[in-house]
Amino acid sequence: MGIQYFEDGKVFKLDTKNTSYILALVDGEFIGHAYYGKKLSDYHVCHLMRLEEGPFIPSKNNRDRGAFCDAFPFEYSTHGVGDYRESCLKVQTEGGHEACSLAYHSHKIYSGKPALLGLPATFGSESECSTLELVCLDPVLNLEVVLVYSVFEDVDAVTRSVRITNHSKEDIVLKKALSACLQLDGTDYEYITLHGSWARERHIDRRPLTHGKHSVSSLRGESGHQDHPFLAVMSSKTTQETGEVYAMNFVYSGNFLAQVEGCQFDTARMVMGINPENFSWTLTKDETFICPEVVMVYSDEGLGKMTRTFHDLYRNHLIRGKYRDKKRPILINNWEATYFNFNTDKLLSIAKEANKLGIEMLVMDDGWFGHREDDNTSLGDWQVNEEKLPGGLKTLVDGVNALGMKFGIWFEPEMISPDSDLYRAHPDWAIKIADRTPCRCRNQFVLDISRKEVRDYIYDRIKAVLSCANIEYVKWDMNRPLTDLGSISYPPQRQGELSHRYMLGVYEMQERLITDFPHLLLENCSGGGGRFDAGMLYYSPQIWCSDDTDAIERLSIQEGTAIVYPLCSMGAHVSDCPNHTVGRTTPFKTRGEVALAGTFGYELDVTRIPQKDRDMIPSQVAMYHKYNDLVRSGDYYRLASYSENHEYDCYEVAAKDGSEALVTYVEVLRRANFKTRRIRLKGLDQNAVYENEETKARYTGDILMYAGVQTPETWGDFSSKLMHFVRVE
Ligand code: GLA
Repeated sequence: MGIQYFEDGKVFKLDTKNTSYILALVDGEFIGHAYYGKKLSDYHVCHLMRLEEGPFIPSKNNRDRGAFCDAFPFEYSTHGVGDYRESCLKVQTEGGHEACSLAYHSHKIYSGKPALLGLPATFGSESECSTLELVCLDPVLNLEVVLVYSVFEDVDAVTRSVRITNHSKEDIVLKKALSACLQLDGTDYEYITLHGSWARERHIDRRPLTHGKHSVSSLRGESGHQDHPFLAVMSSKTTQETGEVYAMNFVYSGNFLAQVEGCQFDTARMVMGINPENFSWTLTKDETFICPEVVMVYSDEGLGKMTRTFHDLYRNHLIRGKYRDKKRPILINNWEATYFNFNTDKLLSIAKEANKLGIEMLVMDDGWFGHREDDNTSLGDWQVNEEKLPGGLKTLVDGVNALGMKFGIWFEPEMISPDSDLYRAHPDWAIKIADRTPCRCRNQFVLDISRKEVRDYIYDRIKAVLSCANIEYVKWDMNRPLTDLGSISYPPQRQGELSHRYMLGVYEMQERLITDFPHLLLENCSGGGGRFDAGMLYYSPQIWCSDDTDAIERLSIQEGTAIVYPLCSMGAHVSDCPNHTVGRTTPFKTRGEVALAGTFGYELDVTRIPQKDRDMIPSQVAMYHKYNDLVRSGDYYRLASYSENHEYDCYEVAAKDGSEALVTYVEVLRRANFKTRRIRLKGLDQNAVYENEETKARYTGDILMYAGVQTPETWGDFSSKLMHFVRVE
């Protein structure tokens, strides 16, 4: 069992293979954080909470309780009772008061991990994880707060969530209910967040931690393109291999707050949870609120180990379904090929050519329903446009299937166009505030998915479409953020619940979809990668990473995404050039080798691309089949970063058993009169002998890892090279 309680020191010790997380009960009341870091053999670390220094614990000196609360390393901080650092919990009583103070009441330790009702969460069997529930009470409010910790022993991850129950007769409004808080000692840290915008999502942003609050957040109703629910605080000068890293990632897809605060006594506090802005939640008697899960990872071997821990956890304990551990069919998507301008003949002509080249699935993107000829209309009218697709979907899908290919389809279920039969029939189904003209984005409104009748209607339409033909893939898109938050379903004091209820509604619909269609391959998407997060990964094994398909732009996008999320989850396609987002022309070979680091597919009109590019597709298809098992399941190592060095990019995937490794090298800008570069591989068996499959040169594992090899010579900008090393002895 990874969790132990030591009665003598009232200490809880949560161990994984390589880490310990230690908290303790102080003065019979306060739950303090003592330690998170490399695994310890002993639990006597309560001195780290500085209890022998002033301000002393209240039982020894109640006179300075306020000062104590302002310095004590609380496991879960509350508002209004003396701790002025970021609080996790803030309430409002019927009397208008906001203070809350939690005291330990009891605890429970058990094998396994509970599901979080209605929310995505990591999962594991009784032998894979164990759980600690710390029950705390505010006796004045009659509020019960259960801090839930689960430990994945083999994966080195600890998850947290919180259950809040109102046992009083009066309503209690939650004004803030974060999921996790972590106290760190010292402030000599740097931190990483993932920043971006549409078409340039999740670029790595690294900054020094100073005093005060440093936060990223979303109020968009989705995790968003701009900021990301991920935060890694690390010792200064941390590299891929060295340094201590404390990371938090939110298993949630809506508004979030991720913050680290450099505090007055040179400590730091990390918090993560639902963004308290735009949030309130009324708990009536005996109602419970569940805070979404935060995953915490500690690494004492730099960012690389943190990354591989997240990848292992998500591949084995978050992603579900038939395709989790399987090669995904190579798809061709018609979006960049045709945009809205297609019909059955056009799609079949793409499918025919694609099929000859080895592509396995045709995905029909936006524009097949209502009278949608551009992005101004018809969202919500999920009936096939028979002018474009005569004979309906079945004719098209049967035609594609007859070629031996699978068929997939695009939906944007959460949206409604003002120009749609649905909006004309139900204008009140859009999220908006009475008397205020709602803001349009891409000329569309957001459906009030928090309402059951809206969900049921849309879901039934999707189900009808999916049931009318052999559809094996769905791309679930979401192309605008939420604004004008107003729902006719809630009384005024409950309007602050809308954003979270919206997310619960989306989760409920996706759960229904994958339950009713267990063989479906679901890919989430939001204007590219605006909702690429751990919450969505619980429902779909892959997420469209970005609308930017340029191979060079993708290097930074995929590097930032892969710092947390496994390569098998990153939707990546080869597209046509000049690239539709940046106008850049890159070699077809490079486009293929960069897309290989993700799910791999095509997004172009295969009937119209240059013959020499088309000729390359069969070998790219073979490359995918050859390497995808390794890419999907191996250990990912970042060897060099184009976003840091501005010249070249290099990453490796090594088989877990050390039997092979694939290195991808992209020389972005060719330097004049320059030599080859040296790279050192990782994750190999130092005593084995490996052969470079192409050159047949043989090296011992220690030479590859400690001495290194030279990168191949390249010519021209944007060139790429794969190097495959296979163990031969
Ligand atoms: C979003 C997606 C694209 C495409 C369009 C269709 O932008 O990210 O891939 O599906 O919508 O409108």
